[in-house]
Amino acid sequence: MRIGILTGGGDCPGLNAVIRSVVRSAATHYGSEVVGFRDGWRGLLEDRTTPLDVAAVDGLLTRGGTTLGSARVAPEKLHAGLAQMKAVLAAHGVDVLIPIGGEGTLTAAHLLSQAGVPVVGVPKTIDNDIDGTDLTFGFDTAVSIATDLIDRLHTTAESHQRVLLVEVMGRHAGWIALHAGLASGAHVTLVPEEPFDVAEVAKIVEDRFGRGDTHVIGVVAEGARPLPGTMLVRDGGVDEYGHRRFTGVAQQLGDELERRTGKEVRTTVLGHVQRGGTPTSFDRVLATRFGLHATIAAHEGRHGQMVALRGTEIELVPLAQAVAKLKTVTPSRLAETGAFTG
Ligand code: F6P
Repeated sequence: MRIGILTGGGDCPGLNAVIRSVVRSAATHYGSEVVGFRDGWRGLLEDRTTPLDVAAVDGLLTRGGTTLGSARVAPEKLHAGLAQMKAVLAAHGVDVLIPIGGEGTLTAAHLLSQAGVPVVGVPKTIDNDIDGTDLTFGFDTAVSIATDLIDRLHTTAESHQRVLLVEVMGRHAGWIALHAGLASGAHVTLVPEEPFDVAEVAKIVEDRFGRGDTHVIGVVAEGARPLPGTMLVRDGGVDEYGHRRFTGVAQQLGDELERRTGKEVRTTVLGHVQRGGTPTSFDRVLATRFGLHATIAAHEGRHGQMVALRGTEIELVPLAQAVAKLKTVTPSRLAETGAFTG
């Protein structure tokens, strides 16, 4: 068998571990070959490939990013290029395609699958917002990085009796904020799922200082937004999937808190450091298991599916189900975090 593989969307620690896993398990267990398409769907559309054998994936387990390169391609381009992608896959003798990616990549995978291409998807995203899987690899690494950095902010905030706001990634789902906030003992955690009330945040700040606490740490997901009409947030337009984006929310909230409370506020935007570098051991294991099970599914003819972590086991879920909606933070998880607010 010949397997095609590509990595799409934003990069994520663990992508290389999946590539290595697919190549090694395909070669070792099935004697199959793997061809990599460069820069996600773009490489498939433009017929840019790289051969992947066991030697080529040596050392990839621990390396962050993706050796295949990645890109975000607008859905319209993919729709328009469907016939071209099918032709390129046929020209390379690809029997099954394994696309590794988030919402956009898996939606494209579903599109190809509906068009008759055998596909097995692998979910990835630091945001952990893919439905149908308990976790995606990259999330644990991102949370670990964010937690470590927020831990460091506690001491400097205490020393200056300041409010420190930390903006973490998560445009549509607040999983990183939620986990990093709980893990680092944040006093306020704001997520896209629940618009925040600026007055309530200001009250938390005043109450903490009022009872003699030395500092306030607030974790703000980049997609967090205020209740309508309570504070202006710069509109960042819409992203490639049509979702509205807001920009600089933590900075703008910081300015507003300073104005309302008179306390010194500083803002740190963690940005792409959350996606960089080596994956945690948890993510290496999850990525490796995903790669192995995607290879098995490819050889067993179980197509149109995505590998998923359910409890402790790797299972298959239909791509249609996985891309139907994003997995956002649930009210019960928000309530748990709310118990540690203030
Ligand atoms: O989806 C992963 C992610 O890192 C989001 O958390 C973030 O909003 C986005 O990608 C950033 O995208 P880019 O790397 O294109 O700026």
